[in-house]
Amino acid sequence: MRPLSGPISVPGDKSISHRYALLAALAPGRSRLGGLAPGQDVRSTLFCLKTLGARVSFADTDTLEIDGSHGLRAPARTLDAGNSGTTMRLLAGVLAGQPFTATIEGDASLSMRPMERVAVPLRAMGARIVTTDGHAPMTISGGQLAAIDFASPIASAQVKSAVLLAGLFARGRTTVTEPAPTRDHTERALVAFGATVDARPGYAALDGGQELSPATLAVPGDPSSAATWAAAAASVPGSAIEIRNVGLNPGRLGFVSALARAGVDIQVDGEADGHTEPIGTIRVAYGDPAFFEIHPVEVPSLIDELPVLAAMAARRAGMRVTGAAELRVKESDRIHEVVQGLRAFGAIAEELPDGFEIDAGPLRAASVDARHDHRLAMAFAIAGLGLPETHIAGAHVVDISYPGFLELLAARTS
Ligand code: S3P
Repeated sequence: MRPLSGPISVPGDKSISHRYALLAALAPGRSRLGGLAPGQDVRSTLFCLKTLGARVSFADTDTLEIDGSHGLRAPARTLDAGNSGTTMRLLAGVLAGQPFTATIEGDASLSMRPMERVAVPLRAMGARIVTTDGHAPMTISGGQLAAIDFASPIASAQVKSAVLLAGLFARGRTTVTEPAPTRDHTERALVAFGATVDARPGYAALDGGQELSPATLAVPGDPSSAATWAAAAASVPGSAIEIRNVGLNPGRLGFVSALARAGVDIQVDGEADGHTEPIGTIRVAYGDPAFFEIHPVEVPSLIDELPVLAAMAARRAGMRVTGAAELRVKESDRIHEVVQGLRAFGAIAEELPDGFEIDAGPLRAASVDARHDHRLAMAFAIAGLGLPETHIAGAHVVDISYPGFLELLAARTS
């Protein structure tokens, strides 16, 4: 197997793409969005917005135009969020403020994920929401809302964002406080679309009734995709890569300090400020492996990266994470599936109620299942680097966030 080397660019940020698309559909006028995430999840958001009457068209291969001039209208059919939790939860916030009823459904994985976490605050604002035993399908009858002060019991950017988006349509000032700070993409995006938001780590507030303005925005490269390449480089001795045009939102960069503690040689160079989201370059070289620990307070800043960090740790010097019980309600139970999958590769791995512990050791080729979870598929691809008999059933699910990743990884390493 060849070490990874040279420059790498990553597709547009999935989290940010959802938010820009949603706000563009609410802003009277034509927004131009460059570099949107190419995966299936953002397509689900765009598809739902079209079903709600937004005009969505390609200006060129890389730029999407969304015209929100006509507002949203009652959909003629059920909205399909596919595999995307962000689509379902953020759209629930928007729909809570619309004067019609809509039902959102999702695929088998999304239909197992908890939805009361958004339904509870949105009901408190005045929306009528019926979930299916706490899950999707979810029917939302929106209308005039009243602002709330919401102390979120969970550190979840999706919950915070749903409440803030509903807050746009509420009478009064909506506030959200979080038990730990989460990514602030919604707050930044709202400002980019002309809203006034009072935001600091762990807190956000906005007044209802603000009119948005259309915006021209470029989506930065996805730090979660960058983290996958960083974990790959950290798994193959002799690797040294440079990932350019990556989003550097501090709420997403927990993996950088985790990798540094793992002994990886990692540096971040930010470009000059002035963008809606900070961007820059991340350089990664293999370094001397060390055991590392991830503490509960860091978890929101690297929650989506834990599967690839675990795979990398199994090839280096091990790791332990706690305070990450949320992993059990992602696209799969990522605590259980990461541990089972890495054990199949020969790693010694233990489940904890709220995390896992991985020991390093020589890995062997394995047959594993991606369990319809894109992040598991990428983690197992990293565990299987240089182990040609490895088979990942359902690996095509990487298309959810990173179409073409497996082919690119193979091209860079073989
Ligand atoms: C996301 C927030 C996180 C993350 C998810 C995307 C977002 O979920 O895991 O992949 O775009 O807001 P939670 O808000 O449920 O923690």
